[in-house]
Amino acid sequence: MSNVKLNDKFMWGGAIAAYQAEGGWNVDDKGYSNWDHFSNSDNNPFNINNVSGNDATDFYHHYKEDIKLLAEGGHNSFRFSLSWTRIIPEGVGKRSAAGIAFYNDVINTCLKYGLEPNVTIHHYDIPQKFEDEFGGWKDKRLIDYYFDYAKVCLEEFGDRVKLWTTLNEPRFYSYCGYVMGNWPPHKHKDLQSYWETVYNQLIASAKVVKYFKENNYEGYIGIVHDHGTVEVSPETRDKEYVYNHAELFFNSLVLDMCAKGKIPTNLEKFLKESGYDTSFINYQDENLLKEGIVDFLGINSYQRFYVTDSTGETIVTHNNTGKKSNEKESIKLKDWFDITEPEHVSRNFWGREVYPEAIYKGIKDVSEKYPGFPIVITENGHAVYDTPDETGYVEDDDRIEVLQQFVDYVLKARDDGYDVQGYFVWSAFDVWSWVNGYVKRYGLIRVDENDNFKRIPKKSFYWFKDIIKTNQITL
Ligand code: NOJ
Repeated sequence: MSNVKLNDKFMWGGAIAAYQAEGGWNVDDKGYSNWDHFSNSDNNPFNINNVSGNDATDFYHHYKEDIKLLAEGGHNSFRFSLSWTRIIPEGVGKRSAAGIAFYNDVINTCLKYGLEPNVTIHHYDIPQKFEDEFGGWKDKRLIDYYFDYAKVCLEEFGDRVKLWTTLNEPRFYSYCGYVMGNWPPHKHKDLQSYWETVYNQLIASAKVVKYFKENNYEGYIGIVHDHGTVEVSPETRDKEYVYNHAELFFNSLVLDMCAKGKIPTNLEKFLKESGYDTSFINYQDENLLKEGIVDFLGINSYQRFYVTDSTGETIVTHNNTGKKSNEKESIKLKDWFDITEPEHVSRNFWGREVYPEAIYKGIKDVSEKYPGFPIVITENGHAVYDTPDETGYVEDDDRIEVLQQFVDYVLKARDDGYDVQGYFVWSAFDVWSWVNGYVKRYGLIRVDENDNFKRIPKKSFYWFKDIIKTNQITL
């Protein structure tokens, strides 16, 4: 256990992200983001499901009702992100009074209902202008623009927000944007950019953490990482090689930089061996990284990575069409590792393994490799196709069955002495699931986008309320 108590009580809550929930994409003076661009470019070949997040689930107009409902569900914390272009429409410079008023009211409403705001400064949405001008996170200029934006967030909201995270899933963002290519900026198998953009985001995060500490902000600041334990399949020829490469790719690049303040020792070596340009690695950055070590680790836990030797060229697959396709979520990275399958795997409709023990293994793995950091499960969830009855009510027993196992493993991890201080369900209510739109649902509360965004708690909402009631934990 660490000495840090992020709250008086174990935090139980739900999570959402600005672009996926807010809507109001062009209200007041809001600026244009990379995801606005995705939704509003005509004949966008990458928008394979032809989905728009313009209205998302209209949190912009429903936040009061939503937060009240979450409080009724027993939640004592709420995780949400801020939209850069709502706060600084041009990305840099003038602040939007309307955008700031909106977030002030969201924060004040949380506090009124006893929900600790758990605020992510950046969750995948950057000003499109920076993508156009210099290629977004590829360019180190974005580090300073992001830093300026983060300072505005701290200045405007830091008097009431005590739990911050700098970035949501920098690795997964780079993976989808540069390797998979299903998200903006839609580069495919551009591994060079993957490494560079993860690296740049981690430098940006450290700058903000350092600033937070130097300016004695009250509260705690962390980062959110999409963690999955790496497990090497028994038939693998070179187990250590495969493990080390996969662990660097999936976890240690992010976690070493933000929790050890170090560039992973094998990064330069492994990249050079595979012919990458390593000139973006600057060991002078470690001075900043050391001063930018986070207070806690936010872990988004959904899966593990079961790997073996890689043979042949790089292949990446993803399933954005749901149950109509047999496509799995997978990557074979040339000369590094290949994702394989243990026997008897159960998968969700989008080809991802459903393996609740992953959350326990993840907590254990992170605690052992990065001792002394409190862990918050900032996301965990189960996507299904929800079928409402005629009143709009969803009996999501399938979701409950999986979430119950995840929660049991989190509570077991606490019982076994691991320092987990919160658990957030993805998602608090239905949100727009990026390229999967409204089809892929995770929420505890149904949002009917065809009926004025009506909110209807699902069976899982009541299940979670009961979990919270019976598991009040003092930290
Ligand atoms: C990770 C992301 O933070 C969130 O935006 C996404 O929708 C969920 N996980 C579900 O995949």
